[in-house]
Amino acid sequence: MGDQIEYKNVETKIAEPDASSTFESYRAIGYSMETAVADIIDNSISANASSIWVDYEWKGPNTILSILDDGVGMNNDELVQAMRPGSKNPLDPRSAEDLGRFGLGLKTASLSQSRKFTVISKAHNGQPNMWCWDLDYVNKVETWSMIKYCPDANKWLSKVDDLSAGTCVLWWDMDRLTKDTVEDSQESKDNFLTVMEDVKIHLSMVFHKFIEDGLTIKVRNRKIESWDPFMLGYGGLQTKPESKFQNKKVSIKGFVLPHRSKLSPEDYNYGKGPKDSWTAHQGFYVYRKKRLLVAGDWLGLFKREVHYDLCRVQINLPNDVDEEWQIDIKKSIARPPAKYIDHITSIAKDVRNQALEVYRHKGKVLRRKLSKEQFLPLWEERIRHGKRFYKINRFHPLIIELYSNAKENKGDIEKVLQFIEETVPIPLITLKENENEQPHGQPFEGLDHSNIKETMQKLYEVFRESGMNDERAKGRILNTEPYNYYPEYIEFLKN
Ligand SMILES: Nc1ncnc2c1ncn2[C@@H]1O[C@H](COP(=O)(O)OP(=O)(O)O)[C@@H](O)[C@H]1O
Ligand SMILES: [Mg+2]
Repeated sequence: MGDQIEYKNVETKIAEPDASSTFESYRAIGYSMETAVADIIDNSISANASSIWVDYEWKGPNTILSILDDGVGMNNDELVQAMRPGSKNPLDPRSAEDLGRFGLGLKTASLSQSRKFTVISKAHNGQPNMWCWDLDYVNKVETWSMIKYCPDANKWLSKVDDLSAGTCVLWWDMDRLTKDTVEDSQESKDNFLTVMEDVKIHLSMVFHKFIEDGLTIKVRNRKIESWDPFMLGYGGLQTKPESKFQNKKVSIKGFVLPHRSKLSPEDYNYGKGPKDSWTAHQGFYVYRKKRLLVAGDWLGLFKREVHYDLCRVQINLPNDVDEEWQIDIKKSIARPPAKYIDHITSIAKDVRNQALEVYRHKGKVLRRKLSKEQFLPLWEERIRHGKRFYKINRFHPLIIELYSNAKENKGDIEKVLQFIEETVPIPLITLKENENEQPHGQPFEGLDHSNIKETMQKLYEVFRESGMNDERAKGRILNTEPYNYYPEYIEFLKN
């Protein structure tokens, strides 16, 4: 760090942030409406709320969104402190249940959606107080000054006063969503309502553990049901034992969700979750306390592939590892510390393999059942003058297809196949296999599989047209190279 600085001997100069431009830059943190509302609800939960009411009524540019809670509330001094940007130091320890971190969320989340927001709060046995950040006013006076204002103030003050304690956050002038809209435009209204629908779905997911433990979140007076990514209690669910790392602070637990054949169509749809897709929901689920931060992401460690659809891995963080896990202000990103990546990867691999087994199970059963069907390899061994050679199987269905569509090219194709067969680099393969430096991959490993799926579908159609029933056609495909490596894809064959 170099020399110790004797600050008292050094000249100093105050360089205060400019209020207006600081606030404007807060607007660019990248919240969506969903993540912004969730960040406000985090505060309600940290304040011990048992009920939270989200409300809105479409009024074009005059639409107000309110988030009311029955938590411990704040007196006037606490409210003013809460409204300060950086109201708490991120380096200060937090109580274990606190979902906050930077002392910014209330301000940054609110301003990400609105140019003006008011917070009304009432502590036990107190009066409701209110303060508002209005970016137009801040810009005008160029100071960090709030105003005591709220549209329709009496209505909202009495809503808070009806509770023994609580807080209401009101976003008005929601320019991001309602600017230049008119109240009676059906299109704008529908657009707004779609966003609100997304908010609901998001809340049902990120707060599912709280909802399961009794928290009530109502949106326009309708209770939000939780969405459980792990489908606990559903038949066919496989759970791996939980293990701990990072000084036993962090836990990880794998889940292999039930195969489609074990679920009713309704339950299968439930599993598709807010993103409406099993594939989009595979991956890690990172929780900070009970709050879900990351919902189905391989965190850059693996690729999303359809055959891992049943794999979901839960990671639970306490709230004092934020820095190591690089939790961002919006609480939508988490990154594992470098030194635990190998550990996490090896656990996840294990769960992924198990999920793959389950996913493939049906296809494998079918393959076994019809294994007396002739196996159709793409390559065959032949002996010529006492020596080994490898030839492409002319009875492989893809080759038959190729020839039957070939017309006058037949001779050329035959020539090229022969050249390939005669120059298979067997000595090189043997040498490498013995050196065993890199394991050789299985067919189509790491490649796009659309070719496999497409040709599989085509073969299926050819087999069906030739009079085979569904099961035989599938069994035959599963006994044909390279489809035998990917039994899961028979799920996608269309009649
Ligand atoms: N709904 C609420 N009820 C009670 N206190 C609140 C509420 N919202 C915010 N606060 C107070 O305001 C502070 C600042 O909130 P915020 O800007 O979200 O930062 P953080 O959550 O990181 O502390 C909180 O630490 C809390 O003390
Ligand atoms: Mg907060």
